[in-house]
Amino acid sequence: MISIEKDIERVLISETEIAKRVKEMAAEMDAYYKGEEVVLACILKGAVTFFSDLVRLVSFPVQFDFMCVSSYGSGTSSSGSAKILKDLSVDITGKNLLLVEDILDSGNTMSALIKLLSSRNPKDIKLCCLLNKPSRRVQPITADFSGFDIPDEFVVGYGLDYDERYRQLPYVGVVKPSVYKK
Ligand code: IMP
Ligand code: MG
Repeated sequence: MISIEKDIERVLISETEIAKRVKEMAAEMDAYYKGEEVVLACILKGAVTFFSDLVRLVSFPVQFDFMCVSSYGSGTSSSGSAKILKDLSVDITGKNLLLVEDILDSGNTMSALIKLLSSRNPKDIKLCCLLNKPSRRVQPITADFSGFDIPDEFVVGYGLDYDERYRQLPYVGVVKPSVYKK
């Protein structure tokens, strides 16, 4: 047990469950893209772990790209606007773009981002999220490829953080409320 695990109340989704579902999602993507090339855009930093597992399981050709948008700071609810800290480096005009995100919560970040990226005229734009918190949604947005629906609890691990910590955990877990109420 690594020291940060003392802050975890319980494991919500195990390493095995994640691996199984990511494989299924890759198969869903294969069926959709049918061998066409896709720009896979990893939304930094939370989606890094998911992205690196996913890219090794899809069969269509991919280009990697990375984008960083600010959402939270150290709180646990969305700010309502998305600020671009690092933009894509690939020109997406006429291309298939698949955004790879860790979690869809209020939907504020992704709906602002999709609006912006659509104006660059990609051939197709789709959203893939490992986790989904439907009960928290403010914007009318759904992920085209979605891993797990989860309850309204703050989760960390497999890339997701609280105040930049816990990203290294191999599973998705719930943080003890005492951690963020400090
Ligand atoms: P939204 O704009 O409210 O949909 O926020 C989405 C972003 O908030 C995600 O990309 C995450 O970075 C962050 N986020 C939302 N819920 C959680 C959570 O339970 N744990 C960690 N990060 C979260
Ligand atoms: Mg994020």
